[in-house]
Amino acid sequence: MPRVHQNIPLRTVTATRYVTPFREGGSLPGLVEADDLGMYVLKFRGAGQGIKALVAEIVVGELARRLGFRVPEIVLVDLDPALAKAEPDEEIQDLLDASGGLNLGFDYLPGSFDFNPRVRDPGAELAARLLWLDTLTLNVDRSWRNPNMLLWHREVWLIDHGASLYFHHRWGPGWQPADEYRYDAADHVLLPAAGSVVEADRALRPLVLPALDEVLTLVPDEFLAADPAFDAPADVRAAYRAFFARRVERADAWVRALEDTRAARV
Ligand SMILES: Nc1ncnc2c1ncn2[C@@H]1O[C@H](COP(=O)(O)OP(=O)(O)OP(=O)(O)O)[C@@H](O)[C@H]1O
Ligand SMILES: [Mg+2]
Repeated sequence: MPRVHQNIPLRTVTATRYVTPFREGGSLPGLVEADDLGMYVLKFRGAGQGIKALVAEIVVGELARRLGFRVPEIVLVDLDPALAKAEPDEEIQDLLDASGGLNLGFDYLPGSFDFNPRVRDPGAELAARLLWLDTLTLNVDRSWRNPNMLLWHREVWLIDHGASLYFHHRWGPGWQPADEYRYDAADHVLLPAAGSVVEADRALRPLVLPALDEVLTLVPDEFLAADPAFDAPADVRAAYRAFFARRVERADAWVRALEDTRAARV
């Protein structure tokens, strides 16, 4: 599996052209061209999901990459709202107006389409590993209805991690990670294809915390400073780390629950 962009900060590019909206995306992502001539799927800081969704995209996307999954390159995109001048759609005008400054971009995979495990078997190991990752990160956005995986050059690419780490919408001063979190794997698109989650756990669990320290440094301070629950970006990073440390520490329990769900299904 590829290990690209490791140990390198996220690149920052400047948007030069707003090309078109992705109508299927709940957060109204847009396709933009940037000054490096790359095309990016832009997730706007001013979207209804808020900046925490962008933090979740970086933390989970970059963690996934370091655990061996394919994830489109993530870049920071500097946006001048004036780019929207030619845009006739008012909703998009408003979104760009609310999104001056740093946004998040994903390398656009041209010619990719939604991955459907009924059409192409992802393989028992990849399926189990992804089920494990989504449970670790509490990602509920990998259902049949909304698989958030793209097939590109015959490989599975992961997208859309903005709804994971949902606890950060509820945290406040004095927050502590819980011993258990609700996660319903029954709806996961890869549950029927998954092999042993115990094996996935054995392979991936030791990699999480070392990778996470690096991943948390990739999140811009500016995104974290916007969090009213904490005084400083370092405190927010410590809180994310505490979540993962507890989640890893408690993994035996949720891995067992995953295996039970898998056994009930097959
Ligand atoms: N890197 C990419 N390359 C090509 N197409 C992409 C890429 N990222 C996203 N897309 C397309 O854009 C759509 C919306 O992206 P994404 O799921 O990340 O946005 P979202 O607003 O969180 O959507 P939703 O909440 O509806 O799942 C995807 O379903 C996919 O078709
Ligand atoms: Mg999506």
